[in-house]
Amino acid sequence: MDTCPPIVSASLEPPAGQVFHAAPCSPLVGPGWELWPGDSLDVIRKMESSAFDAVIADPPYMIGATSIGDEKHKSGSYYDLMNTWPFYALWMGEAWRMLKPTGYLVTFMNWRTFPMIFRAIAEAGIPAHSLAPWDKEWIGPATEKQLRPTYELILFSGKPQARIENRSKSDIFRCKWMAAHSGDSGHPAQKPVPLLREIVELVTPSGGKVFDPFSGSSTTGIAALQLGRSFVGVEGNPIWVEDSAKRLREAAEPLADLFHSANALDQAQPPDQIQPSNT
Ligand SMILES: C[S@@+](CC[C@H](N)C(=O)[O-])C[C@H]1O[C@@H](n2cnc3c(N)ncnc32)[C@H](O)[C@@H]1O
Repeated sequence: MDTCPPIVSASLEPPAGQVFHAAPCSPLVGPGWELWPGDSLDVIRKMESSAFDAVIADPPYMIGATSIGDEKHKSGSYYDLMNTWPFYALWMGEAWRMLKPTGYLVTFMNWRTFPMIFRAIAEAGIPAHSLAPWDKEWIGPATEKQLRPTYELILFSGKPQARIENRSKSDIFRCKWMAAHSGDSGHPAQKPVPLLREIVELVTPSGGKVFDPFSGSSTTGIAALQLGRSFVGVEGNPIWVEDSAKRLREAAEPLADLFHSANALDQAQPPDQIQPSNT
């Protein structure tokens, strides 16, 4: 992998303790997949319009930011959770542009980021078609003032010609979450592959193209490849880029014939659409 100088994004600081590359040097590529190491806000602006069947995003939940108005309890780079909505509006607007007229934008959130994301879609002119709870069948930790959390939320926003073909799918997802650090990667927010498979299957046609602007360990990519879809992801943390590449290589190994070669993605991603901006 090319290495870029690790500098902090000009647009927004990454969460505390993380250093993202300012812009991609070159993507890691395999049969049916492409992974851009870099700041999503930099990469996403250079992506082609109307090219993807789905953007499935599991963005940072800004854990550590608070909105309780108590100076002593504010922590992390995002001082105030309520001020993070422009970040969501920026990347969601670009994601919306990248979708085909039949495409879906699918966004994970929790109850804390829900107000910011709904403010962001209002600003970006993106509709909300379903807000589906994901029952994690796992009870998380909580303070003594809180109920124990067991769910996250998944927003489905469809372009004008988007349709859910499976008319029996309800708006609740049930899939067991493996507790932090016990998945097949060390990523603390890794989502279960079966959950992502269910989502990919719902919102993309056979042979479709999926984009994930916050890939983490690339669970969305694994699900996409397993279902014969191609995948383009972006991840800012070099640790998870490496981890993703390992998982994507393993998932793509049996599929090399299906995708013929890494060039299969060229049609979706004309090289002139993505120019490294720091060269
Ligand atoms: C919630 S995790 C995604 C987990 C993923 N769905 C999985 O199953 O592994 C969000 C990821 O976004 C990355 N991230 C956050 N802000 C970013 C940015 N501005 N550009 C690129 N990646 C970013 C973080 O490093 C983190 O790995």
